Amino acid sequence: MIKVESLTKKFIRNEKDFDAVHNVSLEVKKGEFAAIIGHSGSGKTTLFNMIAGLITPDFGKIYIDDSEITEMTENEKAVFRNHNMGYVLQGQSLLNNFTILDNICMPAYLSSGMSEFRERAKELLREIGLEEFANEYPANLSGGEIRRVSIVRAMINNPKVILADEPTSNLDPENSHKVMQMLRDISKSGTTVILSTHELEYLSYVNRVFKMDCGTLK
Ligand SMILES: Nc1ncnc2c1ncn2[C@@H]1O[C@H](COP(=O)(O)OP(=O)(O)O)[C@@H](O)[C@H]1O
Ligand SMILES: [Mg+2]
Repeated sequence: MIKVESLTKKFIRNEKDFDAVHNVSLEVKKGEFAAIIGHSGSGKTTLFNMIAGLITPDFGKIYIDDSEITEMTENEKAVFRNHNMGYVLQGQSLLNNFTILDNICMPAYLSSGMSEFRERAKELLREIGLEEFANEYPANLSGGEIRRVSIVRAMINNPKVILADEPTSNLDPENSHKVMQMLRDISKSGTTVILSTHELEYLSYVNRVFKMDCGTLK
């Protein structure tokens, strides 16, 4: 479960404060698949970065189940994130000098039991039909394949929550459907999934839709 209460984040532009996210409250239950829709600049990434604990809100509270992210230290947030959250960043975020398998296992390199993670990574790749890419480098994969690998990477630690920031951007419809199906399957297995998008044609996959406009939830 993700609960956000009265969240506000201010940034400075032209020496003036403005609210990139303003007084946003929302709740997404365990196993739900929710979408945050909104134009570019409406505050979606800023909201995700706060939920992931990467930036600190100016006001408001964030809970993942019974844990309050907003009262954790930086170190506690990093540990919590590593155990409970998968974040599919906007854009291409695989490391080009590492193989697909090493990219997927990256979040697990700090944990013990590496061989276990490699097996899980291979199993996850198998489930989405990309097992033959395990030892390839990102440059040899298509945009759609890379996107699905980044979702697998977000799942390696078996998180409670997955945040996927514009996971269908720059993909053709066929690959966008594959990504949406994959995220829906993940949510059906009990993981809470929130994605952001400005493309409305794939919303039939999700259970809940929140609309953001200029930092505010409509
Ligand atoms: N670090 C920052 N400093 C100043 N302004 C920022 C910063 N990050 C984002 N913004 C601004 O905040 C607004 C929301 O950005 P963002 O959350 O990236 O929106 P979205 O993901 O919906 O496109 C935009 O106007 C953007 O320019
Ligand atoms: Mg964004």
